[in-house]
Amino acid sequence: MPSVVDKGPLASIIFEMRTWLRCMMPFTRYVAPFYPTPDSVISRVLDLTGVRAGDVLYDLGCGDGRVLLAAARRGARGVGYELDPELVRDALESARKAGLQHLVKVVKADAATADVSDASVIALYLSDHGNSRLLKSVQATLRPGTRVASFYFPVALPGWDRALLTKDSADGLNVYVYKTPERDRRQEQQLGQRSQQAPPPPQNQSQQ
Ligand SMILES: C[S@@+](CC[C@H](N)C(=O)[O-])C[C@H]1O[C@@H](n2cnc3c(N)ncnc32)[C@H](O)[C@@H]1O
Repeated sequence: MPSVVDKGPLASIIFEMRTWLRCMMPFTRYVAPFYPTPDSVISRVLDLTGVRAGDVLYDLGCGDGRVLLAAARRGARGVGYELDPELVRDALESARKAGLQHLVKVVKADAATADVSDASVIALYLSDHGNSRLLKSVQATLRPGTRVASFYFPVALPGWDRALLTKDSADGLNVYVYKTPERDRRQEQQLGQRSQQAPPPPQNQSQQ
């Protein structure tokens, strides 16, 4: 079966319109339309984050799985989250055709629900608000030190500007690489400790 991006010009236009429209719907879980990262940028993302065998790369909104596949070609494991069933099918099919299905896993679900605790690298290519929304949702499971690479859109969450390792603008296309801030995890722990130390709520005392 041809992939959604190879079905001919008319089918591609219809697919593109559909993917844009559903992002504009109220209450949609889609935070970005499908728009694949150019191969040259994928190589740059993998070089900048130093992806190699032993790494686990998560692509939040993995589209047709091309980033996962490129990571798998370097011997890393790839885990993708994608809402569109056609793209999920394409991603799995490409991995199978490349003989790399043992290294590629694709979950058909909202990436906001992802547990990324085993990720060493996270790839993002969504939208300004999409990056922030998804990262905020997965932040609790994000290990400090995880490399996060975002193509085109910087991460606009508090503290992340200080976590920027590099901004690479080869070809005029920006790739931002971050190292997950330690601060957030410490703050979380402090918050947890504070709530444990908090005095018990006042008891309802009956007055005579
Ligand atoms: C710009 S494309 C990037 C595709 C791929 N990561 C790449 O770089 O080639 C964004 C993808 O995210 C998917 N997406 C948008 N919101 C999502 C969500 N909440 N959960 C999972 N996938 C989502 C879209 O369907 C689309 O395929």
